Amino acid sequence: MDAGKTTLASLTVRQLDDKLKTLLRLRAARHGRSMEDEVRVILREAAAQADRSAGERFAPAAHPKAQAPSSAAESGPRIVLIIGGGIAAYKSLDLIRRLQERGARLRCILTAAARHFVTQLAVGALSGSQPFTELFDPQSEFDVGHIRLAREADLIVVAPATADLLAKMAGGHADDLATAVLLATDKPILIAPAMNPQMWVAKATARNLAQLAADGVGVVGPNFGEMAERGEAGLGRMAEPLEIVAAVEGLLRRGATLAGKRIVVTSGPTHEPIDPVRFIANRSSGKQGHAIAGAAAAAGGEVILVSGPVNLPDPPGVTVVRVETARQMFEAVEKTLPTDVAIFAAAVADWRAESPSASKIKKRTGGTPTLKLMENPDILASIAHRKTARPRLVIGFAAETDDVVVNARAKLTQKGCDWIVANDVSPESGIMGGDSNTVHLVTASGVESWPPQAKDRVAHLLVERIAAALDGAER
Ligand code: CTP
Repeated sequence: MDAGKTTLASLTVRQLDDKLKTLLRLRAARHGRSMEDEVRVILREAAAQADRSAGERFAPAAHPKAQAPSSAAESGPRIVLIIGGGIAAYKSLDLIRRLQERGARLRCILTAAARHFVTQLAVGALSGSQPFTELFDPQSEFDVGHIRLAREADLIVVAPATADLLAKMAGGHADDLATAVLLATDKPILIAPAMNPQMWVAKATARNLAQLAADGVGVVGPNFGEMAERGEAGLGRMAEPLEIVAAVEGLLRRGATLAGKRIVVTSGPTHEPIDPVRFIANRSSGKQGHAIAGAAAAAGGEVILVSGPVNLPDPPGVTVVRVETARQMFEAVEKTLPTDVAIFAAAVADWRAESPSASKIKKRTGGTPTLKLMENPDILASIAHRKTARPRLVIGFAAETDDVVVNARAKLTQKGCDWIVANDVSPESGIMGGDSNTVHLVTASGVESWPPQAKDRVAHLLVERIAAALDGAER
């Protein structure tokens, strides 16, 4: 499986042309990732974009209620978009559209230089509200004020971020509305640099960028391509609006932080040997469990994934322990304790052969062999009922073909866990092995039915819920 992973990644990188390889190397270096990991991130972003083009919205940022957002105006993230003065500002008009399509509530700020490239009228018409321009404009200061603009946002996006704006941010300037808001905010900031390639490689820009990265500012782009200046090409084009949207989504998700938390996740099926060549198994692909492990790691958690045999790449940033049988899975999970959270997404075989044969069972004439089964340990129930080192949050899954919620409620009690994520695995649901999932989150306080969505999305929502629950318990 590892070999497969490496082959796929190296093939992809090797087949790129030199320009793309350079770009990839730079992106990878900037994100502190290997080129292969960067390829994976890019592919994942592309997949997320495809998902979103199908009409998905941002996951609710701060208070995910786990229901489909009822109305963008009520539930979308609040984003302040600062438009800097560069030719790429025209793309910010499209960015406004793209963000709004996904439910974002926007407030726009235009720098003085930006007004040479796009008009207040265009930005106002597209965003649906008057853009802010002046630090000392009595109207806007009475309306919101720059401190409120800075604080009443979930995220601040600077696109295009010119070399000058980067320098001001790095130096902590606050001599106009945009820089004052950027200095006054305690919210995540994402910049989409856009400038001439020479300005991008200038030492001063590199210094400013390093300072901003150290300050925790997120960066998307720039890309390689033709410049506005005729005949010039290089690294410096602003990232495309959809790339910026993907980065926005990444930053909003990071809001649900699991930093400092240790999480064990089980995933995939187990294989219970009958003889050296045959085993009892099930149709679990491990996609949901792996997606949860990846999302928990992306949210800053220390994640150990105990996985049965699956045909999936290891999620980035996750420690993977590979097992075959239920008993090995149980042992591996116990070794990870103590953890803050335990998530049991594996489809553990309930039974194993009582006496697996050491040699291949031969077909004999005149009779079929009888397989005597015995029960496997229930890993979830054992961990949930532990008197010592019980994780603070124990989450089980319930794979059901009938009466999904009723059975899930019963499982919550029987297994002694805190939450059950229940799903309908009847063949017509297509969930086993498929890419999307329809789940019900069953807790002591009730049942939430989530809309059908990609398994990745379910994973991120669940991680946000976990972060919120741990956060609430700590307060
Ligand atoms: N589970 C486990 N160990 C087992 C069996 C199940 O840890 N030996 C966990 C699964 O990972 C899942 C939950 O228990 O989180 C429920 O699994 P499921 O297969 O739906 O339920 P079972 O307990 O096997 O009950 P049944 O098959 O009768 O529905």
